[in-house]
Amino acid sequence: MTSRVATLNPKVEQVLKSFKLSREELMLVIRNMRKEMEMGLSRKGQKEASVRMLPTFVRSRPNGKEQGSFVALDLGGTNFRVLLVTFCSQTEGGMKLVNQTYSIPQEVMQGRGIQLFDHIVDCVAKFLSNQNITERLPLGFTFSFPCNQISLDQAILLNWTKGFNVPDCVGKDVVQLLREAIQRRKDLDLEVVALTNDTVGTMMSVAYQDLKCEIGLIVGTGTNACYMEQMKNIEKLDGDLGEMCINMEWGAFGQGEQYSLAKIVNEFDKLVDQQSLHPGKQIFEKMISGKFLGAIVQNVLLNLKEKGCIFQGIQTSKLKQQDIIKTKTMSQIESDSGDLLDVKSILEDLGLPCGIEDCTVVQAVCLAVSQRAAQLCGAGLAAVLERMRENRGVDHMKITVGVDGTLYKSHPHFSQILKDTVKDLAAKCEVHFHQSKDSSGVGAALVAASTRAS
Ligand code: GLC
Repeated sequence: MTSRVATLNPKVEQVLKSFKLSREELMLVIRNMRKEMEMGLSRKGQKEASVRMLPTFVRSRPNGKEQGSFVALDLGGTNFRVLLVTFCSQTEGGMKLVNQTYSIPQEVMQGRGIQLFDHIVDCVAKFLSNQNITERLPLGFTFSFPCNQISLDQAILLNWTKGFNVPDCVGKDVVQLLREAIQRRKDLDLEVVALTNDTVGTMMSVAYQDLKCEIGLIVGTGTNACYMEQMKNIEKLDGDLGEMCINMEWGAFGQGEQYSLAKIVNEFDKLVDQQSLHPGKQIFEKMISGKFLGAIVQNVLLNLKEKGCIFQGIQTSKLKQQDIIKTKTMSQIESDSGDLLDVKSILEDLGLPCGIEDCTVVQAVCLAVSQRAAQLCGAGLAAVLERMRENRGVDHMKITVGVDGTLYKSHPHFSQILKDTVKDLAAKCEVHFHQSKDSSGVGAALVAASTRAS
């Protein structure tokens, strides 16, 4: 790969350079992220902080004694999922899981609240009827958007992110919206007991198997992390005893002015931001997550086409087609480590027929964009790890990170670059990345189960 990159046209090299991050730049990301975390936890700074550091009211992790059946919902990625989770003792087989995925049409993702919640509850009703369930069950709701939680079952939606925009829900309690939608149907009997973010759900579901899991990380459609923080460090909450999981909402990092990403953001990031559903928001997320990486690549390719570096004979309008390069396509393109014939046929299928030289450029662009994404994600994680290590006053910390998200799971290099970056930037932390096998919905069921335990 290196030899191919070395022979690129200087104009291409120039563009690719704007995606290269030095170690100093990554250290700056860590410093700024840590300042934002501190601000987000403080009483005074919380309003200005771009990293919101939201209390989740999850104060412990699973202990293996969870019992009973729960319905769990998972909303926030590309699909909506309904699960039936049953926890039994290890001798009875531990956890049992049945689940079904439903799609959410774009007009529902960007429509009115009543439509969205009725659609969700409609899917739940279909699921329960297929499973022949009629008894009243407790429900845990994984809702992957920033919420101001007042308790486990009260969560005021602060704003939408990713591909969702249902304005009349903002400022409302999402648990209440779900309860009302359940009541609108006479045939459902469910008790909504807890709402969790997907990061929290992932941490909990991994912690069910690995007690050392104290961080949850998502790198999928969006990106975010949560971790266990000591109560005495959460200045904005009363009480000093024990710990609480904090949903960082790190995707919003960079949208503030004080500790920003301004030195790193390039012209292509700015274009992707302007073209997005929520301009000016979620800057870190737009440089890292699956919903946006393809669009960055597309903008770079357009720029190179305009400079006459690639795709001679292809209409510019073709390259302007919305979402022509998806992050999934990048994964496929970057998987070709040989003669690039796979890249050639992928581009042909997209209506972009070209020669091997262009394939080299396209692959180099994808590699540069995904490498930067993984490095930035690694720097964010290093900030969390170093904070936790220092808070504990230890020189060496062993910890597990529970991870979920398609980009992490399916991209050919992302997870390795992320791990290498964390190893370099948080050298005193020995990190085990534990890929979550279950949906973060299982975590919501575990949180729901915790409300029954005492
Ligand atoms: C977005 C959401 C956040 C979620 C993340 C991953 O950043 O705001 O709540 O955890 O996507 O799904």
